[in-house]
Amino acid sequence: MTIGILGGGRMGRRLAAGWAKAGHTVFIGSRDGEKGAQIAAEIGGGVRGGTLEEAKTNSEALVLATPGSVVENVVASLKPWENRILIDITNPLAGRIPEGLITRSTAEAVAEAAGDARVVKAFNMIFAHIFDNPEFPKGKAASFVCGDDDEARKLACDLSADLGFEPVDAGPLAHARMLEPLALLIIKMAGIHGNDIAYGWLSRDK
Ligand SMILES: NC(=O)c1ccc[n+]([C@@H]2O[C@H](COP(=O)([O-])OP(=O)(O)OC[C@H]3O[C@@H](n4cnc5c(N)ncnc54)[C@H](OP(=O)(O)O)[C@@H]3O)[C@@H](O)[C@H]2O)c1
Repeated sequence: MTIGILGGGRMGRRLAAGWAKAGHTVFIGSRDGEKGAQIAAEIGGGVRGGTLEEAKTNSEALVLATPGSVVENVVASLKPWENRILIDITNPLAGRIPEGLITRSTAEAVAEAAGDARVVKAFNMIFAHIFDNPEFPKGKAASFVCGDDDEARKLACDLSADLGFEPVDAGPLAHARMLEPLALLIIKMAGIHGNDIAYGWLSRDK
């Protein structure tokens, strides 16, 4: 499928490279179209690049890979979303990591700002370098996905599997209020255990 990535930073580049390798058509969008094209050339594998608007126009599904602090402006500037699937990987990080629970998720703010996008939360609690090898001695790193649209949630699960993760359906978008603090927790825990860590998923159903 065609996937557009909004933001060519650490996460955007890894997602683009991984999905291109898995056979998807990937377009990486930057605020500066020339920079987007340059990033795409560096990634290779047939990835194309340009502006954020071009990424949206050229893609069936979009990934929001900008800082969490700017997501509302970014998605509002790209309206209308015309029912596109929008995978939000961002976290509510603006400087200091909050110590307590959050009362409103970035994912819900994205959905509200976009209006007519089918928003799912995914990949927010997986460190960028883990995408280089999601396989751990006891199994694959888990990719928790939540969203209100069944098709969008399934797509984000399938795209997680394409990158080598264990997809886990985590329910409706409101659960992002609980998934986003897990990203903050693992960042804190990297200070104790080092950063070669990821969440896993155990189930007796398999
Ligand atoms: N790094 C991780 O391990 C990790 C893991 C999970 C989730 N996340 C989340 O994923 C998101 C991206 O993380 P990252 O590590 O890839 O960040 P990053 O390396 O800083 O890249 C973010 C990209 O967003 C774009 N950007 C910056 N300010 C912007 C603005 N005002 N408007 C539009 N685009 C803007 C920039 O691209 P251009 O300059 O090309 O426009 C930049 O390269 C963050 O929300 C982060 O919390 C990160």
